[in-house]
Amino acid sequence: MIATRLHPDKQTAAQAIAREIADLIEIRSKSGKPTVLGLATGSTPLPLYAELIRLHREEKLSFSSVITFNLDEYEGLGATHPQSYRFFMEENLFRHLDIPAANIHIPDGLSKDLAKNCTDYEAAIRAVGGIDLQILGIGRTGHIGFNEPPSAVDTRTRWVHLDEVTRRDNSAFFGDIALVPHGALTMGVATILEARRVELIAFGEAKADVIRRAIQETPSAHCPATWLQKHPHCTFHLDAAAAKAL
Ligand code: F6R
Repeated sequence: MIATRLHPDKQTAAQAIAREIADLIEIRSKSGKPTVLGLATGSTPLPLYAELIRLHREEKLSFSSVITFNLDEYEGLGATHPQSYRFFMEENLFRHLDIPAANIHIPDGLSKDLAKNCTDYEAAIRAVGGIDLQILGIGRTGHIGFNEPPSAVDTRTRWVHLDEVTRRDNSAFFGDIALVPHGALTMGVATILEARRVELIAFGEAKADVIRRAIQETPSAHCPATWLQKHPHCTFHLDAAAAKAL
């Protein structure tokens, strides 16, 4: 069951989700528990990250008890590469907050043993008791994380081949499609579905069709976001343009 929440603009959506995260951190830290967040990159979560930074700076929200797991990373790109997701997260979120470095987890696109890096990633998520709240964007192919079609409901963190549509969509960041990696590491669909709460964000008309498919099509590997219909606590945060085809 997917709940939809319509927001007048990106900023209002960001404020609502940031408030939810802040409440979760406050409740859990009062009883001495960490908060485990699953995080996404891309342009969609940027207003949310700006709002979390504002809450930290202006309202003294501490992230010292937060543990993070990012969804994905490009194969072959490391922390110093400006298009790596590690670099993106440092620039747009982590360096502005007080999250202990040891609490930050991102798949290692430079690992010499990618398969082991993926099984270790799953083990690290399990070791902290699972993800409390997962932030997602959505790709026009229906991908969540980098689970491109076809991605089965039982997929786990693994190496994936990126769809050409996704490479083209992301080429703006690289300047040239030839520079966009062909592979990536991503949490699997099953990994994402195990998060206790899922908040998917989508803005703009370019996402309207895939949002319709994710909510209305029968769940299948052809549109991996449809698997979210099986999640008991999943909300899609949309602006009017992204909700247009519903
Ligand atoms: C990013 C990720 C992707 C993006 C999706 C949308 O970590 O996992 O699924 O969320 O490609 O990207 P944007 O937000 O740039 O439209």
